Amino acid sequence: MNIIVTGGAGFIGSNFVFYMLKKHPDDRIVCLDCLTYAGNLSTLEPVMGHPNFRFVKDDITDREAVYRLFEEEKPDMVVNFAAESHVDRSIEDPEVFLRTNILGTAVLMDACRKYGITRYHQVSTDEVYGDLPLDRPDLFFTEETPIHTSSPYSSSKASADLLVLAYYRTYGLPVTISRCSNNYGPYHFPEKLIPLMIANALNDKPLPVYGKGENVRDWLYVEDHCKAIDLIIHEGRVGEVYNIGGHNEMTNIDIVKIICKELGKPESLITYVADRKGHDMRYAIDPTKIHNELGWLPETKFADGIKKTIQWYLEHKDWWETIISGEYQNYYEKMYGNR
Ligand code: NAD
Ligand code: DAU
Repeated sequence: MNIIVTGGAGFIGSNFVFYMLKKHPDDRIVCLDCLTYAGNLSTLEPVMGHPNFRFVKDDITDREAVYRLFEEEKPDMVVNFAAESHVDRSIEDPEVFLRTNILGTAVLMDACRKYGITRYHQVSTDEVYGDLPLDRPDLFFTEETPIHTSSPYSSSKASADLLVLAYYRTYGLPVTISRCSNNYGPYHFPEKLIPLMIANALNDKPLPVYGKGENVRDWLYVEDHCKAIDLIIHEGRVGEVYNIGGHNEMTNIDIVKIICKELGKPESLITYVADRKGHDMRYAIDPTKIHNELGWLPETKFADGIKKTIQWYLEHKDWWETIISGEYQNYYEKMYGNR
């Protein structure tokens, strides 16, 4: 099997590349990534010399480059992780989100139509369902929950999902979509809640919690997400959407307090700052479908996953210190300077 993995130099994509090369040693993995601020070639260092791995630096919106790659590689499958992924950045500047997340998806699927593939898989998000109220813990997102987006990011991801389903119905393209809850684990870019709080706490910097910190996210260890996608691309039904999540809802403030405790840092570092515009209150996935159809269940408990993650950040300071010492400083000042 020859699989193109787009966005493989980012957080989840790189974890997926590592997982697949180990789990399916006979498969070839071709990573297509244009290395935005969120893509990091050093992350892929451990597999650069692997005989079944190739890295290609190109943009998924560049039709010529994408078609050229399909001609060269004749892939059996495409798993599309490539995206602009940060909600706060989408609020500042939506355009690149529309280009990469929507147009990029269309270009990849056009290439799949032109050259033929057995599966196109779209890595989507639970954010396409909007949010749930805090006072209705009985409600969860199922695959039937209507699309109801809040941010430019989630709207761009929802648009892509609709396009993917349209290519299935109109052209018969063999597609699947997964919608996962918040991931955490190694190689998570330090603009996102968990790695940002770990990095700041280690540097004894303020821990900026939006609003009252009451918003709820449903956290899943990244390897469990990778395992679910592997199952879907091999055993999932074409034309279907699968929700992925592990019933692990936690408030942001509880997450930040756990990080303080694990690192032996005082809670006095916590600073409440202005809320995110349009901030979704609660995400909560019902994973019944993927469990019943494909037997998937999360394997890493949050208590273990967060310890492993913190340990990884302690052991890989070079990786994140390099990131936060560069352009990230300007980003941080812009987003948090006057918050
Ligand atoms: P990330 O921001 O860490 O990585 C994105 C990667 O895509 C980077 O390597 C970047 O260089 C690459 N990329 C961006 N634009 C590109 C383009 N035009 N052409 C080629 N490559 C491009 O993102 P992530 O957190 O790993 O998320 C991966 C996917 O999973 C996204 O589609 C996201 O919507 C989805 N998702 C993320 C989460 C989460 O918690 N992080 C949860 C559910 C779904
Ligand atoms: O649910 C899946 C989504 O999870 C993915 O589709 C997105 O790509 C991914 O970025 C993530 O989106 P969130 O907006 O939930 O993640 P983020 O880490 O940005 O924020 C998590 C929560 O923490 C959210 O309620 C906002 C809050 N937050 C975040 C940051 C960066 C803070 O309170 N302070 C912060 O500094």
